[in-house]
Amino acid sequence: MRKNIVAGNWKMNKSLQEGLAFAKSLEAALAGKTLKCDVIVGTPFIHLAGVASSVKLGVAAQNCSDKASGAYTGEVSAAMVASTGAKYVILGHSERRTYYGETDAILKEKVLLALANGLSPIFCIGETKDEREKNVHFDVVKKQTVDALFGLSAEDFSKVIIAYEPVWAIGTGLTATSAQAQEMHAYIRKTIAGKYGEVVADNTSILYGGSANGGNAKELFACPDIDGGLIGGASLDVEKFIPVIEGF
Ligand code: PGA
Repeated sequence: MRKNIVAGNWKMNKSLQEGLAFAKSLEAALAGKTLKCDVIVGTPFIHLAGVASSVKLGVAAQNCSDKASGAYTGEVSAAMVASTGAKYVILGHSERRTYYGETDAILKEKVLLALANGLSPIFCIGETKDEREKNVHFDVVKKQTVDALFGLSAEDFSKVIIAYEPVWAIGTGLTATSAQAQEMHAYIRKTIAGKYGEVVADNTSILYGGSANGGNAKELFACPDIDGGLIGGASLDVEKFIPVIEGF
């Protein structure tokens, strides 16, 4: 059975001290609640080891290198991420694609290295506003999925979590309607079924991201093909993040 997951993406926010304090207060606020989803925090690299060793929440990096090791100044490898105790890595976020030139070919390498080091990729796909207006959003999302992920064995693919994040909805306050999100999630699941079969597709967690918050999470998460969220802005404050988690 696929898992329900709510993952926070802190992006480039919080000092080390702020991040550690936040993770502890989030865990304390969740203690005693009956959660219907796994909770993950996606932190900058510097927080990973400290957060992974001080709380029981899932911990994700927001990136890893497309190289295994060696003379790549400033890079952090998948093996290094795994050595912190983090179990997940967000890959292919539209901010990485747009600002750092990450292509599907680069992302394919990152996915392989993440999996080889025991990390589950939270793999982001999604169309721009222009692509949706031109009615090519299904093609764009399919191509991102096929090019970066469909070389994987079924066993490896089953460790991947997908995050559908329409670029026009990220950080803009413009959430996809639950109908738009459900339509795309069902399409992604059908695409996965075409390659790996119904069982693998049914077991794949597909998260929605893009201005999801405590006000819209319940409606989004009630959709049959939406298995949770990748949350940016609303994951930075405990009081805003808890209502998203309680959307399940
Ligand atoms: P947002 O970001 O929730 O602030 O729109 C989501 C994301 O970029 O993962």
